[in-house]
This record gives sequence, structure tokens and C-alpha cells, in this order.
Amino acid sequence: MTGERLLQVQDLTVRYQTQMGEIHAVSGVTFFVNKNEVFGIAGESGCGKSTLIRALMRLLPDNAKMSAQSIEYEGEELTRLSEAKFREKILWARMSLVPQSAMNSLNPVYRVGDQVVEAIRAPKNVTKSEAREPVTQLFDIVGLQPDLMKNFPHEFSGGMRQRAMIAMSLALDPGLVVMDEPTTGLDVLVQERILRRIREIRSQISSSIILITHDIAVIAEMSDRIAVMYGGQIMEQAPANDLFDTPCHPYTLGLKNAFPSIRNLQQKLISIPGSPPTLLGAPSSCPFLERCPFCVQQCSQRNPENITIQPLHEVRCVRHGEAPLLREKASEKETWRSLN
Ligand SMILES: Nc1ncnc2c1ncn2[C@@H]1O[C@H](COP(=O)(O)OP(=O)(O)OP(=O)(O)O)[C@@H](O)[C@H]1O
Ligand SMILES: [Mg+2]
Repeated sequence: MTGERLLQVQDLTVRYQTQMGEIHAVSGVTFFVNKNEVFGIAGESGCGKSTLIRALMRLLPDNAKMSAQSIEYEGEELTRLSEAKFREKILWARMSLVPQSAMNSLNPVYRVGDQVVEAIRAPKNVTKSEAREPVTQLFDIVGLQPDLMKNFPHEFSGGMRQRAMIAMSLALDPGLVVMDEPTTGLDVLVQERILRRIREIRSQISSSIILITHDIAVIAEMSDRIAVMYGGQIMEQAPANDLFDTPCHPYTLGLKNAFPSIRNLQQKLISIPGSPPTLLGAPSSCPFLERCPFCVQQCSQRNPENITIQPLHEVRCVRHGEAPLLREKASEKETWRSLN
């Protein structure tokens, strides 16, 4: 996979100041997204997925501090752009977001169609009637009947509101659309419908997509490449096939066991015992240490560095060289139970 680079993020870090201390929500994250690809980010609740993309879109709350060595988008270094320039040139127009719980983000007092019209009209400086035609097309792309444009958000189901938000994110034809948990909170049938729709949208638009979810089965089905996050770091990233056929990080092995695979529905589900770290203070050991059935002394002495084990396949684990053995052991329920 040697696609053309759209986005390259180097060493992105985000900390939140809280009364309890500094929360290291994202620590030294490096990844790229190519043109026309779906890059999936998976990981349990609280691992820093939303923080990572909010940092990228400069939508962090006031108690957050971010730093990055470089964020290059379409050849332009974004870290050098002022807030004002970023908002004017990049946000929504070239990089858009379907936020987590997007379906609750529509304004209840305006008609849904008018809200999407407004998303196009304001930055493009076109009249309401000029914006109506592209909005009709957007409704069509996300599978909403154009006559629903005159309805109010409360007249829409959760799935329809989610699709309206996806339409809104596509309004300015951005190069990158970030979807944060686009199916969470919807019932299974609606989830399936939204995913089918996202797949269809992919074939109709030229945007790349960053798809964020804690559901590894959804990620597997939708993504070209996948990053697995834990404790604010990317623990493993690889093309989707490599990640599922030859996972190397114990956390990826655990995640894979914990979700029904679309390729192997007969598989027994094994969950990872324990809970994620609090992220208070800088990581000085492997963050997965306490839940890892394969940890050795070295894991508590330092945070493992990121190793490229083959082109495009990177992993942060000192035992990456023993991956075939770990894979075999991880498929046994006993391996995970022994931690309790
Ligand atoms: N505004 C904030 N102030 C302080 N800490 C925060 C804030 N927002 C998030 N955090 C903390 O940062 C860490 C990462 O949170 P984040 O919301 O990015 O995770 P996530 O992977 O998106 O989780 P989820 O799957 O539940 O959406 C968590 O420990 C969370 O408690
Ligand atoms: Mg989130």
C-alpha cells in the first residue's frame, strides 16, 4: 500500500490539567493517513481516541495542552497556522468531524435541511437557494429523502440524525472526514445501516476517513489500515489484514478475542480482565503492564519504544519477536483468566 499521503502526524501529545493532577491522555502519537483510505482507530473507552482527534481539529477544552513535532496536511505544516487561520482555512472546509454523540448536536429549533444549507452557505458565500441543490445531493448520499430537509431534529430517529450529521460533515467536500464513534448508541440494525451507508459514501466521495470506534469488528470491516490505542498511545498499527492475521501486541490479541470477528462468528469471546490505567502522570512503564498475561520484568522498567516489524506494521511491545507464541497462548481462555 503506497498511497499518496494526506496527513502525517508526528509525536502528538495532549495533557489535561485536573485537580487530581496531569492526565496524559495522548502520549507521543505518530501516524499517517493516505488519500482515499479509511484509517481506523480502535481502543477501549478512555484510551484517548477523541482527545487525539480533537487535538488534530483544535477543538480541545481550555484545560488541555497539546504539542506536536509536526502535523502536515496536504503538504502544509498545520502547527505553524494560527488559530484564526486554522479555523478559516482548514476546519470543516478541508477537515471535518462527525463528533461523538453527533446525533445530539443538531440544533432543535432549526429545520435539519436549513442547518446543512447553512454549513455550505456561510463559508462558500452562496445564497440559500444556491446551497439547496448540493444539500439535496448530500441527503441523497447519506440515504435521507430530500423532502425530510424541512423536518425538525425531533422528527428524526437517532439513525437519521446521525446521517444528517454525516451529510453536514461532507458539506464542504473536505479531504478528510473524522467520524468519532458513528454507530455507538444506535441499535444493531441501525448501526448496520449506517455502516452500509458509510461504505457507499466511500465509493461516491474522494475524502479519506478516520473512523474511531471501540468496536474492533466494525473497524475490521471498514478500514484499510488500523491503529490500536491503549493508555494514550498507539500500541500497534498495520494494514487491516496484517493486524487481523498476524497481530503482535498482547492488547491487540486481547481485543481481538473480546469481540466477535466478522470472519469467524463461531469464535469464543474472551474478555481482558482488569481496567484501563488512569493516565495520571507520564508513562514510565508499559501502560498495559497490569493486564498483560505476557509481561516480563523489562515492561515495568520503561515504556517500550515503537518498533517497525515489517513495512507499515509497527508495535510497542518488548516481546514482539515472540508474536507467534503469544498469538497461540492468547487464544486460550486460561491465559487471560490467570490474571484475576
Ligand atoms: N476535559 C477533560 N478534562 C480532563 N480529563 C479529560 C477530559 N476529557 C477527557 N479526559 C480524560 O482523558 C482520557 C482520554 O479520554 P477520551 O475521551 O479521549 O477517550 P476515548 O478513547 O475517546 O473514550 P470513549 O471511547 O469513552 O469515547 C480519559 O482518561 C479521560 O478521562
Ligand atoms: Mg471518545
